[in-house]
Amino acid sequence: MTETALETRGITRDYHVPGGLFGRPRTVRALKGIDLAVERGKTLAIVGESGCGKSTLARIIAMIDPPTSGTLLIDGKPIDITAGRITPELRRKVQMVFQNPYGSLNPRQKVGNILTEPLKLNTDKSAAECRDLAMDMLVKVGLSHAHYNRYPHMFSGGQRQRIAIARALILNPLLLVLDEPVSALDLSVQAQILNLLADLQDEFGLTYVFVSHDLSVVRYIADDVMVMYYGEVVEHRSRDAIFADPQHSYTKTLFAATPRATVETIRARLAAKAEAAL
Ligand SMILES: Nc1ncnc2c1ncn2[C@@H]1O[C@H](COP(=O)(O)OP(=O)(O)O)[C@@H](O)[C@H]1O
Ligand SMILES: [Mg+2]
Repeated sequence: MTETALETRGITRDYHVPGGLFGRPRTVRALKGIDLAVERGKTLAIVGESGCGKSTLARIIAMIDPPTSGTLLIDGKPIDITAGRITPELRRKVQMVFQNPYGSLNPRQKVGNILTEPLKLNTDKSAAECRDLAMDMLVKVGLSHAHYNRYPHMFSGGQRQRIAIARALILNPLLLVLDEPVSALDLSVQAQILNLLADLQDEFGLTYVFVSHDLSVVRYIADDVMVMYYGEVVEHRSRDAIFADPQHSYTKTLFAATPRATVETIRARLAAKAEAAL
């Protein structure tokens, strides 16, 4: 194992957009050469406004989509997704958690099956061992054994995100790519899931790439922050440095447009909400 869990060198990604009635087909360069590195056990937050390329980059890092050019290195090894040579062992090293857990969980599968299926496909563990590991993982993400036989629709949004996190962790990955994982949740639930992610990171030594448009979330979870703007990295520094003194003009605008979120402001927002509900 290397100290650098993830590295990208000059990653680009083009999308071919079909022409409209009169328009000609176009190529949109969604990523214009992304260089980054994340040390094992650390969290890199990727921020930037909608459409700047965060999800495109997240899917390339998670080996779901190929880059147009450039190199992705996982655990020090260059990955060639186009050659179709991604081994199951490599595949399990990187897992992804999406914004909408309901969309990513099969509604017809019980939680127990959702969690044991990757184990059955990727390991030679017995059914009983798979079941035990899944039960343990339920507890680790703050659910209980009683949830094993329930279906995803029987859970709240926050609980469903816990199930998605459990599934992502069941094969003991190196890296989690989280694309807006708390953006669809209520504030109080967001805080619970962020705390859970922080605990799990400590327990398993996980490396996170955490995509978010919400700077209060980023401030809580990140070690380093990378700011993207139209497919380019405009600033990439430690969280403390970037929040204390954003350098790039776009970063300054982004930060100025976002309320300085502290525990106090979140509490105040919750209190205002509760009052409005009376
Ligand atoms: N499948 C696709 N086909 C064509 N263009 C796409 C596709 N996915 C994303 N794009 C374009 O690429 C750019 C980056 O999108 P995306 O990575 O989803 O940004 P973000 O996650 O930061 O909102 C946008 O201009 C978007 O319209
Ligand atoms: Mg996105």
